[in-house]
Amino acid sequence: MSLYSFLIALALVLFVQGASFGKDEKLRYDNYSVYKLKFETQEQRSILKKLAENRDNFRLWHEARDELHMMISPGAFAELETEIQKNNVSAKLFISNVQELIDFEEDANLKASRDGSFGWTKYNTLDEIYAWLDEILASYPTVTERFVLGQSYEGRTIRGIKISYKSNNPGVFIESNIHAREWITSATATWLINEFLTSSDELVRDLAENHDWYIVPVLNVDGFVYTHEKDRMWRKTRQPSDISSCVGVDPNRNYDSHWMENDGASSNPCAEDYGGPKPFSEPEIQAMSDYVSGVKDNINVMLAFHSYSQLLLSPYGHTKEEFPPNYDDLMAVAQAYGDAVESLPYGTVYRYGSAAGILYPASGATNDWAYNEQGVEISYTIEFRDTGRYGFILPPAHIVPNAEEALVGIAALLDKCKELGYLELKSTK
Ligand SMILES: *[C@@H]1O[C@H](CO)[C@@H](O)[C@H](O)[C@H]1NC(C)=O
Ligand SMILES: *[C@@H]1O[C@H](CO)[C@@H](O)[C@H](O)[C@H]1NC(C)=O
Ligand SMILES: [Zn+2]
Repeated sequence: MSLYSFLIALALVLFVQGASFGKDEKLRYDNYSVYKLKFETQEQRSILKKLAENRDNFRLWHEARDELHMMISPGAFAELETEIQKNNVSAKLFISNVQELIDFEEDANLKASRDGSFGWTKYNTLDEIYAWLDEILASYPTVTERFVLGQSYEGRTIRGIKISYKSNNPGVFIESNIHAREWITSATATWLINEFLTSSDELVRDLAENHDWYIVPVLNVDGFVYTHEKDRMWRKTRQPSDISSCVGVDPNRNYDSHWMENDGASSNPCAEDYGGPKPFSEPEIQAMSDYVSGVKDNINVMLAFHSYSQLLLSPYGHTKEEFPPNYDDLMAVAQAYGDAVESLPYGTVYRYGSAAGILYPASGATNDWAYNEQGVEISYTIEFRDTGRYGFILPPAHIVPNAEEALVGIAALLDKCKELGYLELKSTK
């Protein structure tokens, strides 16, 4: 083959590949619906969960003690109806066309991107978040510090920012966007960073300057990029499996703390809550562990941002038979958060409890690991807005209200922690 014909052949290959892997390949969810399925018995629960093994047709969105939220392909509706009737489960539709919400969100993002770059009237990409972080670090060099957790499976850098106005502050760690599709979490985390550095409000100044903040806006970087480029509804990491064609692990079931105990995670690689082949199999979670282990003596509070369902979940996730030694304090602190949020004009209500107690057993999550293995006595999963009108595709108009709620909630939470003696220095730094 001459060089010339080789180049033509190469161009053809590239053209064909370009066509099939182009923008059009973003997964579409036309006429996919989302239902709340209410059940009473564990048997009903496992029948419904089993449906989700057929990932193309059924996708689990949210799981609680007595209900599942399930996304259903238009072609699988008949199967769902049969199961509902056979098992006496009640079903309530809350999203009739998932693609419509995705389109609305994309339009808002496009419009906001034309008006300027970074902001909170849209959901930003990882590149936009990192470029903005660089600007912030350059603008506030004396009180900010960049840190790197490590590299993701696909080789992306997992970045964080430390904000510290003075020495001897108690430390708060914020982990965000460990679940890829929960975009409201990184939007909220970046809004908080911005407030801490730019606001002149007295409450914010007190919060910003009297605590050291360690904030990782996007932990699951590969999954997050994948939700922007390919599949808006992706949850897990992007590391392939040795035993299945299904990709990814639920990173919030992958920490080495009571890993896989009490059915707190699935051993099926296709499940949304697959715990992985072993604890810390995911490089992102190993990196988080390595970093936090190194600074744990400065960390008084761990907050892991999630959506959705408006909940504060304390340890334990791995069992509802036992409660942590300072459970009463954890509940008092959670209540302070909830009361503060509810007192805002939005009137948003948060519930709280231990993860296993209020929901179902979930083991190997950040909040349990920080509490059990890193000695962080105040540790929560915070599930942001909403309770299932929009679910993961929360319209951008909710970003600022949700972030304001997080701000006053965290302020009240830390006040309560201080009152209860949890913000004492753990060591001389
Ligand atoms: C979605 O459902 C509507 C109404 O049944 C139908 O007209 C439309 O063709 C469907 N869209 C797709 C992409 O299947
Ligand atoms: C079906 O569910 C309803 C309410 O959820 C309950 O009252 C009824 O007893 C159930 N029927 C059967 C056959 O299990
Ligand atoms: Zn989550």
